[in-house]
Amino acid sequence: MMVGMRILVIGSGGREHALVKGLSADPKSTEIHAAPGSAAMSALATVHPDYSQVDDADRMVELAQSIAADLVVIGPEVPLVAGVADALRAAGIAVFGPSKEAAQIEGSKAFAKDVMEAAGVKTARAEQLRPGAPEEEIEAALDRFGPQFVVKDDGLAGGKGVVVTPDLAAARAHVDAVLAAGNPVLLESFLDGPEVSLFCLVDGETVVPLLPAQDHKRAYDNDEGPNTGGMGAYTPLPWLPEDGVQRIVDEVCAPVAKEMARRGTPYSGLLYAGLAWGEEGPAVVEFNCRFGDPETQAVLSLLKSPLAEALHATATGTLSELPPLEWEDGFAVIIVMAAEGYPASPRKGDAISGAALDDPQRVLHAGTVHTDGAYRTAGGRVLSVLGKGATLADARADAYATVDGIEFAGGFVRRDIGKRAEDGEISL
Ligand code: GLY
Repeated sequence: MMVGMRILVIGSGGREHALVKGLSADPKSTEIHAAPGSAAMSALATVHPDYSQVDDADRMVELAQSIAADLVVIGPEVPLVAGVADALRAAGIAVFGPSKEAAQIEGSKAFAKDVMEAAGVKTARAEQLRPGAPEEEIEAALDRFGPQFVVKDDGLAGGKGVVVTPDLAAARAHVDAVLAAGNPVLLESFLDGPEVSLFCLVDGETVVPLLPAQDHKRAYDNDEGPNTGGMGAYTPLPWLPEDGVQRIVDEVCAPVAKEMARRGTPYSGLLYAGLAWGEEGPAVVEFNCRFGDPETQAVLSLLKSPLAEALHATATGTLSELPPLEWEDGFAVIIVMAAEGYPASPRKGDAISGAALDDPQRVLHAGTVHTDGAYRTAGGRVLSVLGKGATLADARADAYATVDGIEFAGGFVRRDIGKRAEDGEISL
């Protein structure tokens, strides 16, 4: 294993801030860079604001070479689906993140369905509609679904192109909007049961799970309002059976990794299984080809093992030699502080105040800039606020205490992140 590592993290959000924080805590890291990174990351990493076009493979290779990076960690899906990992690998640089072909597991929902079918993995029934589909075909397809409609943009939407609704007119409106934008639509049957996000390090057929987490996708309390990229998360899941993670690995992640290898597109990086735990156990809602946001901020906060070593082992095909991952006891909770108007049209430029803003043990920045002496809102999800505790109730209280010390005009949070689990209301 390499003694000192120069690491480049690609991305600028809350997930990347958590990665930078975790990597900088690993004594194996000698130097962390982030492209473009954010002002808030600059205490832990050298940031490169000029490298904001993260799907520009030539620029990312140029930066990685100029800093002599030993490892590049790609945060968001867009550069992965664009093939940035392939370009870096072709330049001889170790990369944490799948190839363009393997990233199709997120980039194309139809590709993911095909892999799952071949691997015998449980998932929703689905039908695709292509741009230009005639009226009768759209109506007939919608007739075969419901009462709960799941309508997905089968282009890449960063988890934000999904509408789940019992309202046929709303489902139809989303079908029309996606087709009009030139993307195919995927209609899916609704999977019932509590949701689980399980992140696995995958290197070929070796699969190492991290702690399971649960996201909260709707904008407002009690799961009301529009779908978002995620408004908060907690980990681990007190209601999951003891063999729950192993079942997900055995029934979902390992068969998919094996099938990807069989196809000649082996997976290397983070495989994110988004699942619903129904009567028959775990079924796949979606796969992502990268760490989830905001679950990562909670999950990595409990990791005791060195992060750089784990990501480097994945990138270099030596994951099977990595010692078992160790985790802190207790729970972690992430509360997303969002800007007014999120998700439709978040307002930007509002000054943010709060004593914890420069403490990455409590606050990870998702969409902020630092101008005129203050942090200001610069995205829909502005901050990821972290709480930890021996119990889920303690972790929630810790996170909300920090939230209550932070202010910006129009900002909002969900007050019920992890609450149903804390109250014992989630059962299988
Ligand atoms: N937490 C949802 C996502 O990362 O897509």
